[in-house]
Amino acid sequence: MYVCVCQGVTTRQISATIAKGATTFKALRDELGVGTCCGKCCRDVHSQLNRECSDAGGCACAQKR
Ligand code: FES
Repeated sequence: MYVCVCQGVTTRQISATIAKGATTFKALRDELGVGTCCGKCCRDVHSQLNRECSDAGGCACAQKR
């Protein structure tokens, strides 16, 4: 499913990027370009990031909140 329509980024791409160590919104933005156009995807990207990090038992991004 597309999360960022502007950049054509899917939930799978975001998951894969998180798995490779992108544990902040900035890292996802830099890697995938999410949130760099209209910004409507930011909330969903943050939600996915928070969900996947809490599923992982608290990764680095959870500690920065
Ligand atoms: S939907 Fe992500 S920047 Fe527009």
